[in-house]
Amino acid sequence: MTNESRGLATQPFLGVESSCDETAAALLDGEGRILAEAVFSQTESHARFGGVVPEIAARAHLGRLPHLVRGVLREAGVEPRDLVGVAATSGPGLIGGLVVGATFAKGLALGAGIPFLGINHLEAHALTARLPGLFPEPPEFPYLLLLLSGGHCQCVAVHGLGRYERLGTTLDDAVGEAFDKSAKLMGLPWPGGPHLERLAAEGDPHAVSLPRPMLGREGCDFSFSGLKTAVAQAVGRGHRHADIAAAFQASVASVLADRARRAHAMLPGATALVVAGGVAANKAVRAALEAATPLPLLAPPIRLCTDNAVMVAWAGLERWRAGQRDAMALAPRPRWPMAELQPPAG
Ligand code: KG4
Ligand code: ZN
Repeated sequence: MTNESRGLATQPFLGVESSCDETAAALLDGEGRILAEAVFSQTESHARFGGVVPEIAARAHLGRLPHLVRGVLREAGVEPRDLVGVAATSGPGLIGGLVVGATFAKGLALGAGIPFLGINHLEAHALTARLPGLFPEPPEFPYLLLLLSGGHCQCVAVHGLGRYERLGTTLDDAVGEAFDKSAKLMGLPWPGGPHLERLAAEGDPHAVSLPRPMLGREGCDFSFSGLKTAVAQAVGRGHRHADIAAAFQASVASVLADRARRAHAMLPGATALVVAGGVAANKAVRAALEAATPLPLLAPPIRLCTDNAVMVAWAGLERWRAGQRDAMALAPRPRWPMAELQPPAG
């Protein structure tokens, strides 16, 4: 009896994410429909250190991942031997977590006799917008991706599966890092982005003058450390924190909008502007990006913008369908630029 005739999901595919401080597992069917998903956020374990502690993260992944995987399999009524493949984030990221996720996935693949795929975390963010059913029309290639998280800040031209061109990146801090560091200067808890956004709602962005780094500059690079320094100075001068937060957020939003316009000029044939990363949750940032270009702004729901395993499973499924199978010897890579990726070799 086939899976189909038993009424079970066809071609279930498992994805695992463990590159930073989210432990996640997700199960898709062969069409990319989400059968089950689970994320465990380690924020609480790291908050008192004011940032992600790699060793704590790796141990937490090790402790949580088996339960999460068992949970999504049980929820979908899928046995490991029913799976057609398993993908794990294999870079870039914190090496301890990457080793935990990839080794777990390899063990599962060996035990179940199914293929293992090692997925680039940035590619997974880049392909999320193609997940069936997410948008009325998934974006066609090429499209622009703005990756705005705590660890990554890049603008990428997505030409096809495995065909990425980095148009710009940050010269110093990632945009989420700038939110977090500025929030910390104002005494807000980590991670500070959402707290800073709430505080900014009570402030006057014109009451404090802050720089808008890279505004009007050629290309699509970013820089935020000067802005953070200016926030420190404004705090030192005794400005109202709400006003500083509002001015900071307005500066970031206008800089990101400017960079998006530049990116569109660099890829005039782009069909859409896709955003990913935690900062994409920020309403001022979204509004500025919406207005920046005539392109449709595609912002996945926030749980799929931040780190998750649905995106890893989807990137894995796209590559598995194109024939990719990875060797068990594939080693996780803390650094793995997207531009080094290739289309799947089927
Ligand atoms: O993508 P993400 O969940 O994780 C990684 O960095 O990998 O992004 C987290 C970042 C943090 O820096 C957090 O402060 C920021 O996204 N963030 C926000 C908001 N929500 C999360 N920044 C600004 N406004 C928000 N509403
Ligand atoms: Zn991420």
